[in-house]
Amino acid sequence: MYDFDEIVPRDGTCSIKFGDLKKINPNASEDAIPMWIADMDFRCAPEILTALHQRVNAGIFGYSSADGRYYDALGKWYSTRYGIEIKREDVVITNGVVSAINHLVKILTKEGDGIIIMTPSYGPFDRAAKGAEGRVPLYNRMIYRDGCFEIDWDDLEEKAKMPSSTLLILCNPHNPTGRVWSRQELERMRRICADNGVRIISDEIHSDITRTGIDVVSMLDVASDDPSVTVCTAPSKTFNMAGNGMSNIIVRDPEIRDQLRRACSASLSPLSLAATTAAYDSGAAWVDEMRAYLDGNFEYLRSFLGREFPEACYKIPGATYLAWVDMRSLGLDDSGLEDTLAAAGVLIEAGGSFVDNAEGFVRINIACPRSVLAEACERIKKAFKG
Ligand SMILES: Cc1ncc(COP(=O)(O)O)c(C=O)c1O
Repeated sequence: MYDFDEIVPRDGTCSIKFGDLKKINPNASEDAIPMWIADMDFRCAPEILTALHQRVNAGIFGYSSADGRYYDALGKWYSTRYGIEIKREDVVITNGVVSAINHLVKILTKEGDGIIIMTPSYGPFDRAAKGAEGRVPLYNRMIYRDGCFEIDWDDLEEKAKMPSSTLLILCNPHNPTGRVWSRQELERMRRICADNGVRIISDEIHSDITRTGIDVVSMLDVASDDPSVTVCTAPSKTFNMAGNGMSNIIVRDPEIRDQLRRACSASLSPLSLAATTAAYDSGAAWVDEMRAYLDGNFEYLRSFLGREFPEACYKIPGATYLAWVDMRSLGLDDSGLEDTLAAAGVLIEAGGSFVDNAEGFVRINIACPRSVLAEACERIKKAFKG
């Protein structure tokens, strides 16, 4: 049994989430609860901490690269949890998914190309498209119906057919909505892309964090051996070690792989290698208990919203630890929502922190001890109901 109720102090840890809260929102109260950036407040699995201590005890931190144990652990994770074989030669280790996507966009597209993004979207996808000279993001707006986000298939097809479209950046599962795509949906996306010569980057960084009983289907499985599909994975969200900066990008096209390797070639952090190896090798029990704890947090939030804000029409998402709540009935714009909640002592991100199609929604990171969530709910209630 692991303890997810523990309040782990973050003072002196250089945490961005718990850093200068006034910089995040000048209205933030002194004691504001940070529920914004996507890292968790849970202590890492003891299996990972032990591996880190052992590595520290070795006493030297020279230039390092992944060894057989690293690839064996990664392979074990994907074969046992997803039934997928990860070929060692397909893996490019980078210091983050976002930096990998930035490089991949430049490698996979050229000036004038259109890059399809489903919105509301995680900001860095848009920035990757806009940051590569002459590329144009094309927003495939999801349809919000009865608390659920659906793909606008006609629009996706139309955008994929545009001669300039060459890339879809997919979020599987989806941040910020928490939507888990079904196999049929993923097959349909892939078919539309393949028929129109559109490559896919599938960002699967959130795929391990699902509600108990829900499984994510990887694009690696849907598009087995298809070189036009690249999949981004990482231990960072799963094991709460985002600061370690390590991700595994599965690139099946050898030319693209070489280019990405050249763009990212660097020695790896010896501590991140030790932590990631231990995480994939022996972190499964911690992850499953953490998921069960999150199930409880989502249930807590759902019943709070149902009781106090029934008009919010909230549904528990299949994945992520991020609640995406429709607050449009309050009639506030995004800054109004963020500022009101910050002043009441809860730091969240409203629609404006995401890309398109998000006005009036808030994203609340609920990967925290239940007592912290309970206090945040009280503050949310006070903020809007006095
Ligand atoms: C969909 C998605 N991709 C990537 C990242 C960040 O990845 P990294 O820290 O490896 O760059 C996040 C973090 O919130 C995310 O939500």
